[in-house]
Amino acid sequence: MGLCFWVCFSLLSYSLHSVSSRAAAAEGDATVEGTVYIDGKAPIGTIDDDFVCATLDWWPPEKCDYGTCSWGLAGLLNLDLSNDIFLNAVKAFSPLKIRLGGSLQDKLTYGTDDNQDPCTPFVKSPYEMFGFTKGCLPLKRWDELNAFFAKTGAKIIFGLNALAGRSVKSGGRAVGPWNYTNAESFIRYTVGKNYNIYGWELGNELSGNGVGTRITANQYAADTAALKSIVKKIYKDVDFKPLVIAPGGFYDTKWFKEFIDKTAQSLNVVTHHIYNLGPGVDTHLVEKILNPYVLDNTIRTFSGLQNIINKSATSATAWVGEAGGAYNSGRNHVTNAFVFSFWYLDQLGMSAKYDTKTYCRQSLIGGNYGLLDTKTFVPNPDYYSALLWHRLMGRNVLYTSFDGTRKMRSYTHCAKQSEGIVLLLINLDKSTTVQVKLAFNSTMTLRHKPRSRALHQQKVSYEKVIIQLPQMADAEIRREEYHLIAKDGNIQSQTVLLNGNILSVDSSGIIPPLEPLYVNSTEPITVAPFSIVFIHLPDIILPACKVYQLLPTMIAKHGQLPVRLSGKGEIKDTSSTVSNSLDASEKLIESRTQGQSPFEKL
Ligand SMILES: *[C@@H]1O[C@H](CO)[C@@H](O)[C@H](O)[C@H]1NC(C)=O
Ligand SMILES: *[C@@H]1O[C@H](CO)[C@@H](O)[C@H](O)[C@H]1NC(C)=O
Ligand SMILES: *[C@@H]1O[C@H](CO)[C@@H](O)[C@H](O)[C@H]1NC(C)=O
Ligand SMILES: *[C@@H]1O[C@H](CO)[C@@H](O)[C@H](O)[C@H]1NC(C)=O
Repeated sequence: MGLCFWVCFSLLSYSLHSVSSRAAAAEGDATVEGTVYIDGKAPIGTIDDDFVCATLDWWPPEKCDYGTCSWGLAGLLNLDLSNDIFLNAVKAFSPLKIRLGGSLQDKLTYGTDDNQDPCTPFVKSPYEMFGFTKGCLPLKRWDELNAFFAKTGAKIIFGLNALAGRSVKSGGRAVGPWNYTNAESFIRYTVGKNYNIYGWELGNELSGNGVGTRITANQYAADTAALKSIVKKIYKDVDFKPLVIAPGGFYDTKWFKEFIDKTAQSLNVVTHHIYNLGPGVDTHLVEKILNPYVLDNTIRTFSGLQNIINKSATSATAWVGEAGGAYNSGRNHVTNAFVFSFWYLDQLGMSAKYDTKTYCRQSLIGGNYGLLDTKTFVPNPDYYSALLWHRLMGRNVLYTSFDGTRKMRSYTHCAKQSEGIVLLLINLDKSTTVQVKLAFNSTMTLRHKPRSRALHQQKVSYEKVIIQLPQMADAEIRREEYHLIAKDGNIQSQTVLLNGNILSVDSSGIIPPLEPLYVNSTEPITVAPFSIVFIHLPDIILPACKVYQLLPTMIAKHGQLPVRLSGKGEIKDTSSTVSNSLDASEKLIESRTQGQSPFEKL
């Protein structure tokens, strides 16, 4: 089709002097060239605005794996809710989605009036499933937790006990219907207190073969319908309706297909868990993370689930409800170190490509895989990776592929903070620097910036359509780069550098600003060995971003949508809609940008 051209940047003829390339200057390092192909015509998926989610778990300090007890006081019943770093770390996302759950959620009761037993914590007991007795959440603790959530602006997903009322048979099956008496009074209490719960999730890892025990898809669908009806009843007079979420288990094609088909009327979100790297005790986790074939092993899960949803009458969307990579609490110096960002950011990018709307990382704190250190609350490298993603990556996902080396992972979204795009590049190679060209197979507009700050009043002009070599190397255009590397080149370090500077919280627990490096577009994009780079290109305007991404901004700024743009939501690509709306949105951008540079600061 006539409008589709591959347009390439050729930016490679200049010498290197960016921060990133310095790290690569060591002896014996190789440099290779590669090309990122971005299909800018229409998005292939959309994520939630608050795609980044993290979990809090119920594990008590006595939870140990392979002889180490890595949870400390990070469990929900013990967590210090007054720690400043913790408060600031959650606030920095405003909002961060937090999912409360984990294995012990299915052994948890709530201290509401209907609960006859004394409300006591979990007790270690080797003969019990998951190694602990039943435990209880006192309402006082629930109040404290909600005060913290309100203060930090978190959006809460609460995982309900789905084993209540069932009996577990010797073969591992849990039988009988869900007894929701205690859950119902807990939800009623929560609503009565005006606590905001974003979603109620039913059960943890009971799908398919289950962990510990399992429930049939047919029974689970009936229980999900029951949850839907109690939520409907209790929230009758409440404006905000929470999501009904299930099953929070491992993907299993047959089980999920049956479950999704049978919950078309009751389910808002289908959640699944990811621990694709194996047990935390594995001494080869680092090699696995650096192996692109291992990283790719979750594609089957993401596309399998997307395929089921595509074919079903359901309107439910897919979330990753819990993902810690390595099960049994992760591994110290791996799942809490810089190297884990290779896995984590790759997972965020890959899941988004398959239309996953939200991705919950196990854990926000606790175990060896916390975004925050279990003892000190100090952010681990993945915390900053998550925050950068959250601030930069917009909702629309663009089809992206990389040609040059198998060790490069590449993802592109429309930008969150401009009409441009953000590219995420992950270099899994220890010694190879990669110089990256960009190529697009759609029409594109290259925005020119005013020549100087003094001329900001000048109207922004647009140069539409096909841009050919070498005019793309426009000296006036800047981009913003965020280079992440490990301290001292040690990928098992818990310290990360952004553009050459260590990221750390100060003594009052303030999360540092994440400042970009402004790079002249005549410079090549250079990705150092063992590094991660986010590149914000605010001036590259693609059809896939121009229309859809603008919608929220336009509504906010103009109070209404231009007629052509009135159809929002899931947009099937039609080129006439795109080109018609392009004109409308372009006018809006122009009117908006007179008198100021629209991309002046994030
Ligand atoms: C762009 O390229 C990708 C990958 O080669 C291809 O799948 C897609 O159909 C192309 N899109 C257009 C609009 O030509
Ligand atoms: C459900 O659980 C409650 C306790 O929360 C109990 O009183 C009730 O008898 C149970 N219902 C059934 C049908 O077992
Ligand atoms: C699901 O449907 C979307 C939109 O029609 C399509 O892009 C995607 O490839 C489909 N995915 C699978 C796995 O079937
Ligand atoms: C970008 O680099 C080119 C070539 O070195 C130079 O001519 C141009 O002035 C630079 N632009 C900016 C905005 O610094």
